[in-house]
Amino acid sequence: MNSFKVLFTLAFFVCLLERVKLLDNGLARTPPMGWMSWGYYMCGDNCLDQPHKCLDEELILSVVDTFYNDGYQEAGYEYIVIDDCWSERERDSDGRLVPDRNRFPHGMKFISDYIHSKGLKFGMYTNVANITCMHYPGSRGYFGIDAMTFAEWGVDYIKVDGCFVEESFLNTAYIKFGHYLNKTERPIVYSCSWPYYIEFKHNKTPDYSKVSAHCNLWRNYHDVYTSWPSVRDIVNHYKMAYSTLYQHHGPGGWNDPDMLIIGTESLTESQSRIQLSVFAMLSAPLLLSCDMTKITEYERSLLQNLDLIAIAQDPLGIMAQPYELTYFITLWVKKHLPMKGDKYHSFSFALVNLYRRNFTVSFTPGSYGLQSKDGYTVMDVFTGNYLRNITLEDSIIVTVPFEDVILYTLYAL
Ligand SMILES: *[C@@H]1O[C@H](CO)[C@@H](O)[C@H](O)[C@H]1NC(C)=O
Ligand SMILES: *[C@@H]1O[C@H](CO)[C@@H](O)[C@H](O)[C@H]1NC(C)=O
Ligand SMILES: *[C@@H]1O[C@H](CO)[C@@H](O)[C@H](O)[C@H]1NC(C)=O
Ligand SMILES: *[C@@H]1O[C@H](CO)[C@@H](O)[C@H](O)[C@H]1NC(C)=O
Repeated sequence: MNSFKVLFTLAFFVCLLERVKLLDNGLARTPPMGWMSWGYYMCGDNCLDQPHKCLDEELILSVVDTFYNDGYQEAGYEYIVIDDCWSERERDSDGRLVPDRNRFPHGMKFISDYIHSKGLKFGMYTNVANITCMHYPGSRGYFGIDAMTFAEWGVDYIKVDGCFVEESFLNTAYIKFGHYLNKTERPIVYSCSWPYYIEFKHNKTPDYSKVSAHCNLWRNYHDVYTSWPSVRDIVNHYKMAYSTLYQHHGPGGWNDPDMLIIGTESLTESQSRIQLSVFAMLSAPLLLSCDMTKITEYERSLLQNLDLIAIAQDPLGIMAQPYELTYFITLWVKKHLPMKGDKYHSFSFALVNLYRRNFTVSFTPGSYGLQSKDGYTVMDVFTGNYLRNITLEDSIIVTVPFEDVILYTLYAL
């Protein structure tokens, strides 16, 4: 080999190593799907004044039943995650966290058993400081006890927040908490808010190779809140951050743009299509946060669109790459399974319009990595209709309505 070839080969293996150095606990091989309380119920501890936003046992069990009875479980929604504000204000005399006695009267093992009896999985929350973001007891000084407590309760997923601590503490605490989780020997998906706090509270650059070596998913950006501008802002952030994030993303380790707010009466149908499509294209976790009894028929059919879920849950787990077709229209392109033979992948194309005007655009799918000389068949993911067959040279001209998305999957012929 000449020296150029040696260098090239070395570079290739370094890249390969870089890409596969994700947390190796065998979990989250596809991005987690489920429900999480925070986005809609927030703290949910004022049940007297706000019974409709009450985070309690009855709520969690009812979400379990909805997942089980209404098709969500079959579509892939699996984890049911209790976020902040679930505990008593004080630990018990053994230093263990205690669930709120009024809101969780039977404790967490009871909820966990109920969830598992339906074949679903259970998630909980803590913070690396000695208090949580909402000032409930946090895990600082108790990492070992808390990891063991969660494992004893049968927790399958833990979201660990990063409020109120220094940058240097974040950089050691998440690694240490992960070791304690591992020591419990219970498989627990580990969700870290680490890079978000590094970048947006401490104004530093997150070390994503470190984060991805210790966590199964990690928050990059601000919390979603129940409004369209928040979703728009998140979509724009992931577009701008693509070149940093895509390298640290794949089976076992996922960038997490936070919850879906579909079903909270804050998005139109077309805005809901945008949030779900972009998250699916990113291979992002799909965590609903809403009152499951208020989801409309349309929203339910959207959330259970199996062609869309297949894009989100594709085993390759590639983050879609954004291209600016025009200032107003971003084209997201994602390579995924199934393949024709061992050569030709399928591709999905999402044309996203975040603006309040219709735009007509033209693009040539063959310019984005497609290779099958026999062409591709084009499916509209929202209708399931096969629209046409195209060659590598053909262009598609389409109008993207205001605040909406066109989503096509192309299968090799
Ligand atoms: C603990 O870590 C080892 C080494 O990375 C891994 O093989 C194992 O699956 C982990 N176990 C758990 C329960 O996370
Ligand atoms: C948390 O730590 C702070 C600062 O170190 C301390 O003042 C406070 O008493 C601690 N709170 C709890 C609940 O332990
Ligand atoms: C696309 O090609 C396939 C295979 O040749 C054919 O069965 C199908 O009818 C074509 N679809 C359209 C919409 O032309
Ligand atoms: C924008 O597109 C929608 C959906 O195709 C259509 O109903 C509407 O009339 C269009 N609006 C304008 C101003 O062209």
